[in-house]
Amino acid sequence: MEGDVTIETGHRPVLLEETLAILQPRPGGRYLDATVGLGGHAEAILMESAPSGRLCGMDRDAEALALARNRLGQFGDRVELAHGDFDRLGAIAAERGWIPFDGILFDLGVSSFQLDNASRGFSFMREGPLDMRMDRRGDQRSAAELLARISERELVTLLQEYGEERWARRIAARIVQERQTQPLTSTAQLARLVAAAVPRRAWPRRIHVATRTFQALRIAVNDEMARLMRGLQEAVQWLTTGGRICVISFHSLEDRIIKETLRGWARLEPPRVRLLTKRPIGPTDQEVDANPRARSAKLRGAERC
Ligand SMILES: C[S@@+](CC[C@H](N)C(=O)[O-])C[C@H]1O[C@@H](n2cnc3c(N)ncnc32)[C@H](O)[C@@H]1O
Repeated sequence: MEGDVTIETGHRPVLLEETLAILQPRPGGRYLDATVGLGGHAEAILMESAPSGRLCGMDRDAEALALARNRLGQFGDRVELAHGDFDRLGAIAAERGWIPFDGILFDLGVSSFQLDNASRGFSFMREGPLDMRMDRRGDQRSAAELLARISERELVTLLQEYGEERWARRIAARIVQERQTQPLTSTAQLARLVAAAVPRRAWPRRIHVATRTFQALRIAVNDEMARLMRGLQEAVQWLTTGGRICVISFHSLEDRIIKETLRGWARLEPPRVRLLTKRPIGPTDQEVDANPRARSAKLRGAERC
């Protein structure tokens, strides 16, 4: 899972051709982009389904939605955007008279917009507040609040589970020691602590030494794994027969959840879905060359029976 700093660059949606091949957008179809982000995949789905395909774009980040609105404005009333969490996608779409869907896309993780915006606190590369909340309007705790209260033992588990961090114990001990003298409030402060906790000879070669810690905190702050499980269960209920679900993930834990969920549905009697990808589809070498953030992307798809 080396390098799940991945994600998407706004201009270059990850696994775009592969996503379109799974979703097969067509005129008249109705699509849900459950993680519309900056609208890159959504734009392509709307173009492919012209002139009459429609798309509902959802995101829990209101700031990202404002950017998506600009990008997708050209499609007029073929597109509608909704602020909300995909673990409630049925209710959110139903309120707008949108269900059911012929295709649903999840492109998980954070967007380049979130990562590049220092004030959001997602990146160890930029000095900013330790926030990391995707939805700043909600009642979630920020990373700073989480780090102020979590026990050392829980922090070790969090770093091991969500970050697959070998040095979890040392990092957690450093954090707990530091917060006894001063609160952890900035990304740079946390990145420095992690760098000091991990012996120099053990620093990873391809990624920043704090990558895994930041990733683990982001996943915990946003409760990403539980929401993914609920989001998938919601999605399958609102697909038409023959409708397709396509999920792009960047983390081995996410991929495991997706794989097991899709396979579980395919094994039901009668099956709920037909698998379209026995193995996950990854990026081509060309895509990774052009967009290194795509390197850990995995795509899985299924069709509703
Ligand atoms: C990788 S970006 C999507 C990029 C998009 N496909 C594009 O082409 O621009 C992931 C987006 O998912 C959103 N997101 C993550 N978890 C979410 C959830 N549980 N509900 C709704 N949106 C979520 C994030 O706020 C982020 O904007």
